[in-house]
Amino acid sequence: MTEKKTYYITTPIYYPSDKLHIGNTYTTVAADALARFKRLTGYDVMFLTGTDEHGQKIQRIAQSKGVTPKEYVDVIVAGIKDLWKLMDISYDKFIRTTDDYHEKTVQKIFKQLYDQGDIYKGFYEGLYCTPCEAFWTETQAVGGKCPDCGRPVERTKEEAYFFKMSKYQDRLVKYIEEHPDFIQPESRKNEMINNFLKPGLDDLCVSRTSFSWGIPVSFDPKHVVYVWIDALSNYITALGYGQEDDSNYKKYWPADVQLVGKDIVRFHTIIWPIMLMALGLPIPKRVFGHGWLLVDGGKMSKSKGNVVDPVVLVNHFGVDPVRYYLLREIPFGSDGLFNNELFIKKLNSDLANDLGNLVSRTVTMIEKYFGGSVPAPSAREDVDDELINLASELPREVEKLMDDLKISDALDEIWKLVGRANKYIDETTPWALSKDESKKERLASILYNLCETIRIISVLISPFLPSTSPKINSQLGIDKSLTTWESLDGFGKFKPGVKVKRGEVLFPRIDVEGKLAELDKIREKQESEARKEDATSGRDNKAEQTKPEITMDDFAKLDLKTAKVTACEKIKGSDKLLKLQLAVGGETRQVVSGIAKQYTPEDMIGKTVILVANLKPIKLRGEDSFGMILAAEGDGKLSLVTMDSDIAPGSSVR
Ligand code: MSP
Repeated sequence: MTEKKTYYITTPIYYPSDKLHIGNTYTTVAADALARFKRLTGYDVMFLTGTDEHGQKIQRIAQSKGVTPKEYVDVIVAGIKDLWKLMDISYDKFIRTTDDYHEKTVQKIFKQLYDQGDIYKGFYEGLYCTPCEAFWTETQAVGGKCPDCGRPVERTKEEAYFFKMSKYQDRLVKYIEEHPDFIQPESRKNEMINNFLKPGLDDLCVSRTSFSWGIPVSFDPKHVVYVWIDALSNYITALGYGQEDDSNYKKYWPADVQLVGKDIVRFHTIIWPIMLMALGLPIPKRVFGHGWLLVDGGKMSKSKGNVVDPVVLVNHFGVDPVRYYLLREIPFGSDGLFNNELFIKKLNSDLANDLGNLVSRTVTMIEKYFGGSVPAPSAREDVDDELINLASELPREVEKLMDDLKISDALDEIWKLVGRANKYIDETTPWALSKDESKKERLASILYNLCETIRIISVLISPFLPSTSPKINSQLGIDKSLTTWESLDGFGKFKPGVKVKRGEVLFPRIDVEGKLAELDKIREKQESEARKEDATSGRDNKAEQTKPEITMDDFAKLDLKTAKVTACEKIKGSDKLLKLQLAVGGETRQVVSGIAKQYTPEDMIGKTVILVANLKPIKLRGEDSFGMILAAEGDGKLSLVTMDSDIAPGSSVR
């Protein structure tokens, strides 16, 4: 027996930093359709997805929630797995970068690159965008803003390890030129060559010391591996590369397709192949950078409040309409648009009207005219040929388009056959033939041709709409043996005599206006619940905007002291300010503080508070203030920081 050909397809690994939106799900749905298609056509497929769990951003979010980074990601990753279940994602392996085998292998990879001189130690000074975990140069970060997300970048200087990307630059350019299929679509290849490779590659900073949530560098553990080396390695560590059992690595690597959004093509077609070259490993056959799903007004983002929740859509419309929309609306290499109205209209036209009607009309006619048994065909007529030719050629056509990753074009072609079959019904008018007993044979042929066409359609849509296909098969009584790729070889394999059975409507028509109003209400409710949750957890936007990290040295610059309030009065003409006299060790200080709305002078006398003693003096309402006392602010209220046991005024606070 000959061995099956293998096919390895990967998605990017997702940041478990937030709930995934409908745009995020595109990469994985597209990869799933491709993986299912390849399985259908006889390949031994390995489909990998997972989560990218390290980095400063995750550490900061976890900190702000008062949990460990691992506790935080565990919850989000469970949610991501649930979402993939809901979206019918048939991955073969799910990798987490916190998996032990991954961490150990990344350490080995890092050490190997260091030992062979491709990684060296130096200093990094640059502009860093925390949310994107990317360094930028002065020219890239125009106006101090990250060119990807537009948020402010931070200047960072620290000891770091560097990867000699520059050493491999010429080899990479040559590789890209000699392998025209490596970066797709073509436009992205040109972008990489002209914008990044031609201007020259800088060596890449591959470790960080300013945060700890990462894989420690084994030989210098105050460094953690900089996120891209950690993240990109997942594609081979998941296969067992560098581990005891590397049989999957040997079987599946190099990847046939690495599917990524256009925002991360740069990392996958420059850093990644250079890493592989340095390790002496083969380069993936193709990296495909797909376009984005945009909503009215552009990119989906929490701050714009335009995030579309895939769970709400699936709960209302079922999974296949959502998959269909994503796969059909993002054309090869370009962006697509999402809004509820476009989505519902597409569902009504392509799924309810075209596909759903074709199936229900055919089954109904077989029940009505042939007692539910699929009749045998007889002589063909010209009008049949067009339908039959289209149906016979379609599998090859779709396979070619899928090989070129033209997923939406493949669906276009399938829907041409759906449309042709509906037109065939209108042209051949079975209802008229049914009235004439002498036309019974002709009527039988027409209905047989329709059943066989629907069978072909059902097999071909199975990778895209995996829960619709079995429903069609059960209505038409299609045997499992006739759902294979081989069964598409030649028109006419449907077995006459099979019983059909009308089932539930495949895609009920949606009342556009009514549903839009319903979805709007849900969205409002979700938004108000999110606001409430933020309020009750004491979390607000301000709290999430964490400040840049500081060192102990930075902190030590503050002179914090306990101080006892000995006198206090209101400042005339101000309803906010109190003037306080504080005993701080041997001295008395005057401080002006904006706490008058919460505290009266009587409340304050006798309290021990914390003073920032080395703050530059200022004048407020004409009164000198030599320092500041600490208070917390939240929900529009103030609360003083005080001591929970007696301590002498002037004690230092650390
Ligand atoms: N963790 C990195 C990838 C590391 S791979 C070694 C990452 N994660 S992500 O969660 O931010 O993005 C995951 C995928 O979602 C990416 O392919 C990204 O391009 C894609 N998308 C995010 N928003 C999208 C749309 N609006 N539309 C389509 N895809 C989009 O990047």
